[in-house]
Parts: sequence; structure tokens; C-alpha cells
Amino acid sequence: MSEQVHFTLDGRPVPFQDGQTLMAAALDAGVYIPHLCFNPEFTPHGSCRVCLVKVNGRVQAACTTPAAAGLTVQSETEELREIRRGILQMLFVEGNHVCPACEKSGACQLQAVAYYVGMLAPHYTHFYPRRPVDASHPEAVIDFNRCILCELCVRASRDVDGKNVFAVQGRGIQARLVVNTPSGQLGATQFSIHDKAAQVCPTGTILIKHRGYETPIGQRLYDRKPISVVGDVAQLPESRGGRRHD
Ligand code: SF4
Ligand code: FES
Repeated sequence: MSEQVHFTLDGRPVPFQDGQTLMAAALDAGVYIPHLCFNPEFTPHGSCRVCLVKVNGRVQAACTTPAAAGLTVQSETEELREIRRGILQMLFVEGNHVCPACEKSGACQLQAVAYYVGMLAPHYTHFYPRRPVDASHPEAVIDFNRCILCELCVRASRDVDGKNVFAVQGRGIQARLVVNTPSGQLGATQFSIHDKAAQVCPTGTILIKHRGYETPIGQRLYDRKPISVVGDVAQLPESRGGRRHD
């Protein structure tokens, strides 16, 4: 019988299957590595860099680095927390995030990861970009001020919903999320609030109308427990490392 291959993550052996990334294997083992553009249901594309870890001494993205036997991976170090804090601070100043007034507060992954890495203030100068809010759809609204360009909605709409409602246009500082219609309005698309693309946004960018503050503050997903406990590790079945919420 062959032995299960593993790498070590912060000194702990983590088994993996052929073709798994460090992130996927860690998630299956119930170990949280901070992430935003990664979602276990989609092919990773490594854009947010929040999942940076040290692999045999080199900084790499855990969501796109293939697992290999014998690798020594570090995640929970002060050096990496500082790098992640810096990335999150840049994400916060690059958009307009008003957490206390956001319908997603307490259920927002961006906010929850920032708490997890100990980000207390934005540190950098705010860009205050002028971005629109699209309320043209009868059941959903897009507040582009809160978009971090993770492209999860793009991937979900294209790969699961088969609609291609969203795209990212431009590069670098000019990059922005757009709606794929001549008018650029969500109301002109086939988007439905039952689409996968309506469920995956890690921030409060894509919101369902008429239920903004459905769950009271203090009782939302990350109000009581950190994202490392109730994030997508917990959404997995227990057989794949998922944890119970109670
Ligand atoms: S709308 Fe949400 S899911 Fe889509 S790119 Fe922006 S942050 Fe990501
Ligand atoms: S989660 Fe790995 S780069 Fe975004």
C-alpha cells in the first residue's frame, strides 16, 4: 500500500491528491489560508495575492502553487501577515468601502479577512474613485464602489450560469468590472438572482434588492466567529475538512 504524500504547513503535515494546489489541500485538511479571489468551486486565477505563503523560503500564491511532497510551507508568520495587511489596505483604499453602512457588513469576506490579519486602518491615502451604482435590474443592484476585481462573478456567470454577464475591462489601475451589454446595464441582461454569479461575491458589490439588512448586525456570518472558522472551510462536508458552525 502506498503512503499518503504530504507537505508541511506551519509544521503540520498536510496530505494532498495529485493535481491539488496548496490551497485546495489545506482547505481539505481544514486549515485556513487567507484568500479572496479563490473559491473552491472555481479554477483559481491568483489575482488578489492575499493567499501568499512561503514555499521553501519563496513567497508564492497558495491558490495556484501545486502541492508537492516534501515542500515546507509557512502561512501564519508575522512577515506574511504584514504582507497580507498591506494588500488588504490597498484593496480598501482603491475602492469606496464604507463597512458600517454596508448591507454585507458581518458577512463580507474582505472585511472578515482584514479582521483576521489584524488590519486596523487603511494606512494609505484613499483614492476615492468615482464609480457608479447600477440599480437597473428589478431584483439586484451592483455597487461598483465595492468591487475588488476578484472575477468570481465573471467565472460563475461564464462557467456555471452560461450567461457571460460580467467581464473585466482595462488593465492595471484602469481595470474595472463591466456588464456585457451595449448599455452596460445589468437590467439589460439575463442575470437572475438565482444565478451562481449572484451568490459568489466576497464583498457587498452584487446585492439582492429588498433584503439589504435581512440578518441583524451581530448575528451575521463573521460577527461571532472569524473567517478561519466559518469561512469556506466550514462550507465543505466534514469528510473534506468542513467544520460544524455550532
Ligand atoms: S462584483 Fe464581487 S465577485 Fe464580481 S469581481 Fe467584483 S468583488 Fe468579485
Ligand atoms: S486567493 Fe490566491 S491570489 Fe487570490
